[in-house]
Amino acid sequence: RLATKAISAVARTPSSRGFSTTSAVDAKVAVLGAAGGIGQPLSLLCKLSPEVTELSCYDIVGTPGVAADLSHIPTKSSITGSLPSPVSWPPRGNGGLAETLTGADVVVIPAGVPRKPGMTRDDLFNTNAGIVKTLVEGCAEYCPDAMIAIISNPVNSTVPIAAEVLKKAGKYNPNKVFGVTTLDVCRANTFVANHMGVDPKDVDVTVVGGHAGITILPLFSRVNGAKFTDEELEKITVRTQFGGDEVVAAKAGAGSATLSMAYAGYIFTENLLKAIRGEDIVQCAFVESNLTDAPYFASPVKFGKDGVKEILPLGELSAYEKKWFDKMMPELKNQIKKGVDFVNN
Ligand code: NAI
Repeated sequence: RLATKAISAVARTPSSRGFSTTSAVDAKVAVLGAAGGIGQPLSLLCKLSPEVTELSCYDIVGTPGVAADLSHIPTKSSITGSLPSPVSWPPRGNGGLAETLTGADVVVIPAGVPRKPGMTRDDLFNTNAGIVKTLVEGCAEYCPDAMIAIISNPVNSTVPIAAEVLKKAGKYNPNKVFGVTTLDVCRANTFVANHMGVDPKDVDVTVVGGHAGITILPLFSRVNGAKFTDEELEKITVRTQFGGDEVVAAKAGAGSATLSMAYAGYIFTENLLKAIRGEDIVQCAFVESNLTDAPYFASPVKFGKDGVKEILPLGELSAYEKKWFDKMMPELKNQIKKGVDFVNN
């Protein structure tokens, strides 16, 4: 489906931010949960992107309005908004997941409830596990070859859920299912750049592990030129792990990060689209992995047109990072197991 429209790939750094100015392929992106706090600005960024030629927005509410609204933006991509069948915008066909997902190259999933103050991501499990399961069953049926990027929390469990659903359907490709941890990288970049007094675009922190509390492990020891006292290092590490809580507290019951997450989700998606059109991309992602004894792990991953090309070696951790690594592993493995068990038991 991805007919190359002959264009020379523009060399860009793997972590490049912002919009590229060229597009090489026909690419359909589906956003599931597109009427939500993340879904709407994420859909807006996709509509603005020259990388996207077709955008399909799906949610259980609101997507005809979101799509009609975005359709007036003068960019070349076509757009549809579907509710569970048969309502869609523009009104045609049967809407629903079938129309949303058929022909999709990348499916981004921010569907599900967000945290309120005092909640951990794991507290969302009971509601979001079922939502992700249903949506990924749709992917297995209508776009089994698509790359699936999961934003819905708890990512440490929803990615294994997606994998198990696809396995059951005989459609699992471990190279095409990812948890989006880009917001952790964004936060680490912002915090360390502020600490160093440099432009955030000049830093690219490697963040490994998972996407919840102490399972988020930023490797600040690898940032060139960064100097910390022990106290500063502890503070910036914990702030990266629990940065989401700052937003949850400030929103005071109205949800969690949406705008920064839409940005992060878009950067991740844009990088997948660039990989599809032949650029070598390296970005952190939570994927099936044998780097550690956890079956899934977030780390820098090389992406190509078929998804994960190579999981890069973890490298040496500092003594400080090793301490966090040992502390996180049991929690990470439990959250992964919880996702696997949800589908199989
Ligand atoms: P929201 O409540 O504003 O939006 C969620 C949307 O999902 C709503 O429009 C809702 O109608 C829709 N939805 C619910 N069930 C659905 C279903 N079965 N099919 C399709 N759509 C469905 O929530 P928000 O703030 O957009 O957050 C969404 C998810 O993203 C949450 O689980 C949140 O924890 C997670 N998140 C993940 C981050 C990450 O770094 N990976 C960062 C921030 C949030």
